[in-house]
Amino acid sequence: MAKYILARSAGYCFGVERSVRIAQEALESGGCCCLGELIHNRDAVADLEKAGLRLIRSPGELPEGERVVIRAHGVGEDVYTRLLERRGEIIDATCPLVKRIHEIVRAEHEAGRRVVVIGDAEHPEVQGICGWCSGAEVFSDAASFSVWLDERPESCHEALSVVFQTTQIRSNLLEIEKLLKKRCTNSKIFDTICGATAKRQAEAISLSQKCDAMVVIGGAHSANSLHLAELCRENCATVAFVSRAQELDTSVLEGAGTIGITAGASVPPRIIKEVVKKMSDEIKIEESTAEDVAATVAEEAAPVVEAEPAAEEAAGKPDSEKTFDELLEDSIRTINNGDIVSGYVVSITATEVTVDLGTKHSGYIPVTEFTNDGELKVEDVVHVGDKIEASVVRVNDVEGTVMLSKKRLDSIKSWADVENAQADGTVVEGKVTEENKGGVVVNIKGIRVFVPASQTGLPRDAAMTELVGQTVRLKITEVNRGRKRVVGSIRAVANRERRERAEKIWSEIEVGKHYEGVVKSMTSYGAFVDIGGIDGMVHVSEISWSRINKPADVLNVGDKIDVYVISFDRENRKISLGHRNPDENPWKVFTETYSVGDIASVKIVKLMPFGAFAEVLPGTDGLIHISQIANRRIGQPSEVLAVGDVVEAKITNIDNEKQKISLSIRALSEPAPAPRREAEESAPADEPEEDALVYEVSSDGTATGDAPEEE
Ligand code: F3S
Repeated sequence: MAKYILARSAGYCFGVERSVRIAQEALESGGCCCLGELIHNRDAVADLEKAGLRLIRSPGELPEGERVVIRAHGVGEDVYTRLLERRGEIIDATCPLVKRIHEIVRAEHEAGRRVVVIGDAEHPEVQGICGWCSGAEVFSDAASFSVWLDERPESCHEALSVVFQTTQIRSNLLEIEKLLKKRCTNSKIFDTICGATAKRQAEAISLSQKCDAMVVIGGAHSANSLHLAELCRENCATVAFVSRAQELDTSVLEGAGTIGITAGASVPPRIIKEVVKKMSDEIKIEESTAEDVAATVAEEAAPVVEAEPAAEEAAGKPDSEKTFDELLEDSIRTINNGDIVSGYVVSITATEVTVDLGTKHSGYIPVTEFTNDGELKVEDVVHVGDKIEASVVRVNDVEGTVMLSKKRLDSIKSWADVENAQADGTVVEGKVTEENKGGVVVNIKGIRVFVPASQTGLPRDAAMTELVGQTVRLKITEVNRGRKRVVGSIRAVANRERRERAEKIWSEIEVGKHYEGVVKSMTSYGAFVDIGGIDGMVHVSEISWSRINKPADVLNVGDKIDVYVISFDRENRKISLGHRNPDENPWKVFTETYSVGDIASVKIVKLMPFGAFAEVLPGTDGLIHISQIANRRIGQPSEVLAVGDVVEAKITNIDNEKQKISLSIRALSEPAPAPRREAEESAPADEPEEDALVYEVSSDGTATGDAPEEE
């Protein structure tokens, strides 16, 4: 009895399967149109038309407000605009891998680069790609691209971004790569070839090498299906190419011991089943498996000792460098629990993420298996078309499904990361999720890391609750994978970072340099300020220009303040800081505002027997000598003035050196002072001269020094 082997990759690729499913769902929910044939298979399209799908050839044919499905090949941006102008509802069934190319060419074009597409200029997919940028050049292969460069040598220095039609063959990509390296100085290449086509072809070649006859199912107008048949003919004398069961003449298969069957990406499962049924009905055949053939291939191809390293080597290679046998191995590989697999995200629902693994199995990740982070939304971190890796949880061969878990794979990777972090002392980052009796728990990529209270970096007896929810940096100090125990230290990192910051500050410190500091503690004589790793002291006299008794009058612990270096002692690790802004020095402000002879509105702040102190500007007081208070002789200043009075006074003298100001009210009512000699004669011998500087005002405004004696 003859055996038949159905290629695992035969029939719908995930992009086609997805677009058919989307169209079917749209039909079930109320009907819709399709712009062009949904996929390249007349029978499949006819089935959909029977179910109610209406075919339109251009956006203008869309009835106003109708729903329209965009087919797997995709369309240009202008088509979306025209469909929206018809107020149509767009149901986008573009293959995610094609959509990715749209995004690439749009971004490259917006970045000012010229897009080059390698593909068939007449193919709808290529036309759609060109519709997402402008000025794109299309070449069928490296040779025609090279001719274009010959004709336009300046393009060799142009910014070129090259993408490939998804069904292009790898050898084209490799040749283009070589050409760009050799001739172009500013080029970028994007590998946008879909692995599904290469795998299908690789499997067809390998099957045709092992089988006595091949049946290739595909549309007569499908270039890819025809190419599949050609590849088989290179290895097998008997190849039947049919688009449906009725076309198969089983007499050509008679005498064949093993018959291989493959099918193009647009061939629906129904047609493949019908072909197999016809073969079973007309010739005696039984199903064999692709693994049988693969095993035979492996046995015959290489000695056992070399098989494993070769497979490992192949697994690490990009698809473009794999041989057909390696690609075949990929396509027919069996999947076992615990394997790590990768695939493309095909759909995302509220409950699961469907993943195309490039095999007959349909992979899915339940949302609960996606992440341990309860706050993370799946749709925010993964999108249709993204490549994703996951761990296999359960294979169901009967249903052809594989349950996957991303969080388990993440956990495997996380354990490795945590172990490596402990080994090489790397600092890791995580969020504090809870506080418990002895410390806090930090989540590092899904791993619970315990940080004892003594290692949190908080002062003893401080509430650890304040850490919950914070992102912290820590060092891993202990890992025991068997007991699932990991211990870390936030303090170790904080101390190390503080030491590093301190060293940096000491290496760069200089007098006058400003820092943003944090007030850590205060005494009656000053405030200790952390300037990012070192504490410096701000003396109370350097805190404010106003009169203050203690730092706490104007500062609080935890305040962020600007400080500058007054002096430092590197050896004894001491820094003296200032906080007062030199530009706000009241004496400076005063001298910039007033000159001798100016009249100022002053406020009486203190009365003394020899005169009155008056505030000229905040922080700057002057003295009105008793003889300058009135234009008559008075016994006490209080006879004329009271604290709080605001009066006009003339600035009669400014002593910059001693920072003293003399004021006179009398000068405003006496146009010309009496001759000095007369004044000397009339003044009592023990009374200070009327315009003499008889006091000193310190920088904080306090009057001291040789103030005149009471009369
Ligand atoms: Fe199919 Fe999309 Fe690849 S339509 S062949 S999966 S690019």
